[in-house]
Amino acid sequence: MGFATDAIHVGQEPDPSTGSIVAPIYQTSTYVQPELGKNKGFDYARTAHPNRRALERTIAKLEGGTAAFVFTSGMAAIDAVFRLLRPGDHAILSQAVYGGVVRLTTQFLVQFGMEFSFIDTSCTENVAKAIRPNTKLIYVETPTNPTMSVTDIAAIAKLASGSKLTLVVDNTFLSPYFQRPIALGAHIVVHSMTKYLNGHSDCTGGAAILTRQEDTDKIYFLQRSVGSGLAPMDCFLVSRGVKTLAVRMKQHNANGMAVAKFLESHAKVKRVFYPGLASHPQHAVANKQQSGFGAMLSFELGSMEAARRLLNHVKLCSLAESLGGVETLISHPATMTHASVPAEMRQQIGITDGLVRLSVGIEDVEDLIGDLDFALSKV
Ligand SMILES: Cc1ncc(COP(=O)(O)O)c(C=O)c1O
Repeated sequence: MGFATDAIHVGQEPDPSTGSIVAPIYQTSTYVQPELGKNKGFDYARTAHPNRRALERTIAKLEGGTAAFVFTSGMAAIDAVFRLLRPGDHAILSQAVYGGVVRLTTQFLVQFGMEFSFIDTSCTENVAKAIRPNTKLIYVETPTNPTMSVTDIAAIAKLASGSKLTLVVDNTFLSPYFQRPIALGAHIVVHSMTKYLNGHSDCTGGAAILTRQEDTDKIYFLQRSVGSGLAPMDCFLVSRGVKTLAVRMKQHNANGMAVAKFLESHAKVKRVFYPGLASHPQHAVANKQQSGFGAMLSFELGSMEAARRLLNHVKLCSLAESLGGVETLISHPATMTHASVPAEMRQQIGITDGLVRLSVGIEDVEDLIGDLDFALSKV
């Protein structure tokens, strides 16, 4: 079946007991057992529940994995994946990963003897040079948050398999609609489902999609041991959101491109970072591995003051953290999403004080451009 059909039907079968086209929300913590030692597939909601099982089937199918686990947030999913490492292991990460991943690894996981290197993964040679005898995992975010740098997934996958490393790709920005890392050779895909998979900004959630039985067993053990699985109501919300992923992504893509072109042509904008523009340094790689460019972009205004003036004058674009919802969100990475990244590292990555990030929604694009045009007139 096609992508949109799978998104609507896999894991979303009508309830067999009533015919309800939408699966009920199993808002229960425990399941009565008909007799000692027997149950109907569920015993306690921390371990598993029908809404989580259903969503996991949908997500595994859309990403082309053999299994998926859904978590209370993207960070919970990412944390579970990093726990595949052991003390003494080393991981290579894209240098401009989401700030929360920098915080998790450099301020918490290092305490357990793991080592992390942050590398510009858009250059495959850099990654090859960073491999050490104790390297076990490569963690790529592509496009990266917020500088939109693109990594060649197939090239890194080749490198990873040659060195027996696990390749993990954060596919949050594009969703499986536009990019399928497992088909390009990744072993694990992670998502902040808070973003496009949910699409309506009404719950947090995360996913880890797996391809190997060993990883599946470990992540399942971890999830049920720590209780980080997504709750029934939130699974229901993401399952509902996923049904419209294909149509939303098409519109996000069209709006993203239109806004990127508008910004690129504006005299007050010094530079636009959007992989769909021919001016983007990895436009060719993006074209090769993505079937669309999505709706995340950032642009440089040159100073903190210019960024402040723009952000204080937009009306339709909402000043807020997060991304991937139907509504357009605008943010200032240096003081918001990436505030936990040390200033020196921010500088190196290009997260300047004048950088503004946009998650372009699916409103009428003329209204969005009008709003940005007005705010830019105040810069
Ligand atoms: C690319 C990316 N990955 C992971 C995360 C973390 O997800 P969550 O906020 O759902 O924990 C975020 C959050 O913004 C993100 O942008």
